[in-house]
Amino acid sequence: MNIVVGVTGGIAAYKSVHLVRLLIKAGHEVTVIPTEDALRFVGLPTWEAISRHPVTTSVHDDVARVRHVALGQNADLVIVAPATANTIARMTAGIADDLLGTTLLATEAPVVIAPAMHAEMWRHTATQANVATLRSRGVHIVGPADGELAGGDSGPGRMVEPEDIAEAALALFAAGDLAGLRVAISAGGTREPIDPVRYLGNRSSGRQGVALAAEAAARGASVTLVAANISGDVLAAAQHPSVDIVPVGSAAELGDALTDIAAAADVVVMAAAVADYRPVEVAARKLTKDRGELTRIELVENPDIIAGLTAARREGQTFVAFAAETPSEEGGEEEMLARARRKRERKGVDVLVVNEVGWDRGFETPDNEVRVIGPDGAVIAAASGSKHQVAAAIWDSLAAVRSPV
Ligand code: CTP
Repeated sequence: MNIVVGVTGGIAAYKSVHLVRLLIKAGHEVTVIPTEDALRFVGLPTWEAISRHPVTTSVHDDVARVRHVALGQNADLVIVAPATANTIARMTAGIADDLLGTTLLATEAPVVIAPAMHAEMWRHTATQANVATLRSRGVHIVGPADGELAGGDSGPGRMVEPEDIAEAALALFAAGDLAGLRVAISAGGTREPIDPVRYLGNRSSGRQGVALAAEAAARGASVTLVAANISGDVLAAAQHPSVDIVPVGSAAELGDALTDIAAAADVVVMAAAVADYRPVEVAARKLTKDRGELTRIELVENPDIIAGLTAARREGQTFVAFAAETPSEEGGEEEMLARARRKRERKGVDVLVVNEVGWDRGFETPDNEVRVIGPDGAVIAAASGSKHQVAAAIWDSLAAVRSPV
């Protein structure tokens, strides 16, 4: 493949030397396009020597071969690593005053960026909004990782290791049955704040959603996992270069985060347990017993997130909801499935995964048992076993729904 590696002005630029070596070792032609700032960290001769191609930052070199667009047109893949906050902002605005800018505008190849910056800059609303815009345009974001940053600080902002960037980028071309698919998954349970120390929550651990994310990534999809209050050890199973994790707290945060992510996805899997109600008011200070403030909490209904997303569906999108149900004493299984079918229609989803739950099953356990209801209301799959096995069975049935034989 012809791969363009854009290098921008961050200390992590030195690690991209290794990234270029890895890509060349894997048999690819690599052209490096640094920005002027990047050359302050690693000089031009290093990039030329390592890539064995001429390197320039300028749109005015090699004009005869319209180099400013030719590199982008001929690329099969463009990687920008490190991608600074400034570069991310410039990409969002489509600024093209150097060779990397023109190349990014001229390419139709997949673009993978590996952000690297200080944690504050990464968390800034401007950067987050820019990243969301790029993601909605199909740019693949790898990282950043959480860890030690330049100057002794730590937090999210560290560039993902070159091996992982290469793996994530090349996985876009992997032959898995979900290769090229963009998947959005919500998982975990929302917490609805009552006051600064209390919330209304539920017992969802997020394990099934995390297993769905890991399985999709392993099969070639690029996944965004919107994680509502999932503990670090559960989330660790989703660590994969093609899984991007977006942490959220309340139903409102989950809804806001998912709106843009779902718009850019081919498959949206709503596995999160969303609180149906939230307190009307969130107290600014801790409520106390002696004032009798905790005996009544007035609640208001949360919007139905998945119903909102399906109402704005694009052609080609597949929506999946989950229903945690307990069979009733009188109606048993049949009545439970009938309820689930009505729920599938009410939510406007293609597929509903019914998850039988009780005090001792479904939640906080490693195993699960599900029935998958397909677009015409029939049960198209049933699976039980580890949440990983169940995830594989769910993806098998989703792959079949998307491309029926
Ligand atoms: N869901 C959602 N937004 C909500 C509540 C639920 O998107 N405010 C999603 C869940 O993530 C799940 C599906 O809807 O994928 C079904 O959730 P469930 O709680 O079973 O549905 P409800 O509509 O709340 O029905 P019930 O009255 O049975 O709780």
